[in-house]
Order: sequence, then C-alpha cells, then structure tokens
Amino acid sequence: MQDQAELLREMMKKNEGSQEIREEKKTRIITVASGKGGVGKTNISINLALAYARMGKKVIVLDADLGLANVNVVLGVIPKYNLYHVIRKQKTMKEVILDTNYGIQIVAGASGFSRVANLSDEERSHFISELSELSSADIIIIDTSAGVSQNVLSFVEAADEVLIVTTPEPTAITDAYGIIKIISTEIGNLDMGMKLIVNRAGNVAEAKKVAHKVISIAAQFLNLKVDYLGFVYDDPSVPAAVRKQLPFMISNPRGQASACIQHMVNRLEKVEYKEGRGVGHFIRRLMGRRE
Ligand SMILES: Nc1ncnc2c1ncn2[C@@H]1O[C@H](COP(=O)(O)OP(=O)(O)O)[C@@H](O)[C@H]1O
Ligand SMILES: [Mg+2]
Repeated sequence: MQDQAELLREMMKKNEGSQEIREEKKTRIITVASGKGGVGKTNISINLALAYARMGKKVIVLDADLGLANVNVVLGVIPKYNLYHVIRKQKTMKEVILDTNYGIQIVAGASGFSRVANLSDEERSHFISELSELSSADIIIIDTSAGVSQNVLSFVEAADEVLIVTTPEPTAITDAYGIIKIISTEIGNLDMGMKLIVNRAGNVAEAKKVAHKVISIAAQFLNLKVDYLGFVYDDPSVPAAVRKQLPFMISNPRGQASACIQHMVNRLEKVEYKEGRGVGHFIRRLMGRRE
C-alpha cells in the first residue's frame, strides 16, 4: 500500500502548476512554540501580529492550540468554525477566517492533520485549494500548544521561522532546551531559523543570561545554532490586558511589554529579513508529515 503522505506529496506536485496553489507574494510563516505551558506564547503571537499589522502587513494568526483555544479569549472573539469544518467541506476557508477589531485575522486550527490522510483524493485537493486562501496574508503566525505533539512538529517543520519562548524559570529553560532537542532530532533537514524569546524577564541582563544558557547548550550538545531574538519584560500590564480580553499592545501601547514586542518585530523585519517560502511550500510540508 502506498504511503498516504507520499500520495499527498505526489498530488501536491501535480497541483503545483494549477491556479489554486499559485501565489504572487511569498507569505512568511512563523511558528511560536515552547516546552513548558503558560510561558506567554499566545500573548506574544497576538501582539507580534498586531505590531506587524501596524506596519501595514496583512497578518493571520492560526490558533493551533485547540485544547485551550486561547487566541480568541485574548482577543475577545469567538470563532464558530475551524479548519475541521473546511476539511469536512462544511465551510470555506473564507468563512473560517475571522476578522478582529485590531486589523488582524484569526483562524482556529483543527486537532491534528491525521484526518487529512483519510480523505479521498478529491476531498484532499479541495482542502489544499482552500488552505491556499491563506496566501493572501503577508505573515501567518501559528500559536501552538506547549510541548512536542506531532501537530506542533508539523507546524514547526512547515514554518519559515520558529520562535521558542521561555521564561527565566529553571523549569521553562530546561523544557525550552528539551523542545529544541526534539525538534533538532525529529526534523532532519532543519532549514528554518530557530529563534529564542525570553518572556517575563526582570531586566535586560537576566534575559541575556537565560538566552545565553539555552543557546550555548544547544550549540554544545546539538551543534545547533539558535539566535536570540529578544525578550519581554515581566509586566503587570500583560495579565491586566488578558483580564480585559485585549491585546496589551492595545491596552498599554507605551508599556514595557509593548516596546519589547515592537523591538522584536523591527528586528525580524529589518535585521533578519528573509523572504518567506510561501503558503504552497507550507502546505506541502504540512501534508508531508505523517501523524
Ligand atoms: N510578559 C509578561 N509579563 C507578565 N505576565 C505575563 C507575561 N507574559 C505572559 N504572562 C502571564 O502568563 C499567562 C499565560 O500567558 P499565555 O500567553 O497564555 O501563555 P501560553 O500561550 O504559553 O500558555 C498570561 O495570562 C499572563 O498572565
Ligand atoms: Mg497559549
């Protein structure tokens, strides 16, 4: 029996030249992951998205953390439908992409892409052409659940960039190293950039110290280059914003946390700019991984 993923890859190849998968601009796909839960992935994802939107970019946040479906809580919106409805042909991608008041759009993910493998060729090609609707975005930010499920690995593997979030807590640092290690061993051809964010730091020096720890261990034991993207201060305006169901970039735009987010986006765009590989590539990678 032919491998399902292989089948899908073949089908993608056939589709490559077709109208649905062709794209003008190259969407940049950024996956946000962490070893430990509650370290700030969702807040960072949303506020990075807002900072990008302020630069005039079209941004979609894909909430891949389905168990906790946090993105909508922090934004105060409730998506009725998710990618599963698209897979089942109950909704189109357009209907599942939700506008927010903040100039960004959100999409609720589906729990795992394993179901995709069980679809008929016709259903699969329908889903893929619907997914390519995402290529209207300049940036797609994928907020994942903590740890390394196959689902998270799929999004990591398919991304142009992976942002690993940790806090200065020893357990978060250990888990950050843990996920970096699993990513580096599970995903052979690691061609995406891995970048570290230290959230909830007391000051610049603490953040640097934490980053140095993780980065030097990854270099020493995994022979892996991880860049330090930046840090976010431990800032009471973050939980205050969450309680108000507002992104902190909105409720406290001049706060310390907001300044840190802006700094990281500037860095991603100016210093480390590289063109994304686009949604076509993203989808092929996403579908290529077996669950
Ligand atoms: N920079 C920060 N300063 C203070 N508290 C923060 C900060 N970032 C996150 N938090 C707190 O941690 C909680 C969890 O953050 P969240 O983004 O939901 O984490 P994750 O998505 O990784 O589970 C937030 O509700 C907030 O109370
Ligand atoms: Mg979250």
